[in-house]
Amino acid sequence: MYKNMRKKIEKIEKEALIQIEKIVNEEELQNLKAKYLGRKGLLTQLLKSIPKVPLKYRPEAGKSANLLKRKLEQELRSRHDLLRKKKEKERLKIDITMPGIHQELGSIHPVTQTMRQISQIFMNLGFKVVDGPEIETDYYNFTALNIPEGHPSRETFHTFYLDNGKLLRSQTSPVQIRVMEKEKPPLKIVAPGKVFRPDATDASHSFMFHQIEGLAVDKNITFADLKGTLSVFVREMFGQETQMRFRPHFFPFTEPSAEIDISCIICAGSGCRVCSFKGWLEILGAGLVDPNVFSAVKYDSELWRGFAFGMGVERIAMLKYGITDIRLFFENDVRFLKQF
Ligand code: PHE
Repeated sequence: MYKNMRKKIEKIEKEALIQIEKIVNEEELQNLKAKYLGRKGLLTQLLKSIPKVPLKYRPEAGKSANLLKRKLEQELRSRHDLLRKKKEKERLKIDITMPGIHQELGSIHPVTQTMRQISQIFMNLGFKVVDGPEIETDYYNFTALNIPEGHPSRETFHTFYLDNGKLLRSQTSPVQIRVMEKEKPPLKIVAPGKVFRPDATDASHSFMFHQIEGLAVDKNITFADLKGTLSVFVREMFGQETQMRFRPHFFPFTEPSAEIDISCIICAGSGCRVCSFKGWLEILGAGLVDPNVFSAVKYDSELWRGFAFGMGVERIAMLKYGITDIRLFFENDVRFLKQF
């Protein structure tokens, strides 16, 4: 009786292993599993018949039948893994004759390009490029820049206020303060970056745009240094023949202050639509650093002099490339962006 049982077990083992070896898909695998290990499977039935084996041989018979069960389960599992790996490999096979997927090459955004170009001109003049936070405090955006609370000129710099008492900087001028707090004079820096103002969006306004701030502090700085520096910039940026004029203006953080125009780069000053028939285009604000600003950063204003300027990057780019709507910069339309 036991011999018989042993033969049966050996037979099942031999057959099952051969068949498992031949499995090529999931369906065959499930079928074989049912054939041997299912509710009416060959091995299952055999296991059920163990209690009928004479007591003397029963433990031995039970043991080998159970061992076989485990063995078959394991074989089926590793076969299953193998099939899965094969399928995955199949999927990853590459047909090198298929046409590839075309990848569009990106390019630097025109605002970034312009910002870099402007920075480079000032770097050539010995200015260092620095960075400042876009989320600012009232102190850096206003107070330290000689714009005390309630001062009417605060209105010129319409501002986004945040719930936490901070604000989105409305100009890059706060970077002047941050740099001077950290560094000893003399120094020459430019600070490019984003600024924010709650203006209604139209062809020439955006709630977010870019500025480049400039600041030079040294012992004998005069208005002539400002003029010389800006004339180099204007000629490098817009062409050697470009004219420049200074109009008196007011900024709280510079004294005296000026707005600077360039001769219209479209009509060379004779008058056209771009310059509203004035012949001049306003491009930046500037002046000599107000002594109150030096006091805020604890510089001795008897010893140190400085000039500062600030310009809108989009405006410069629009003039340079003849772009008539600022919104084009921010719509991410590749037909526009591709041209730069
Ligand atoms: N911060 C000024 C503005 O946003 C520009 C400026 C900077 C003027 C530095 C003078 C000196 O309009």
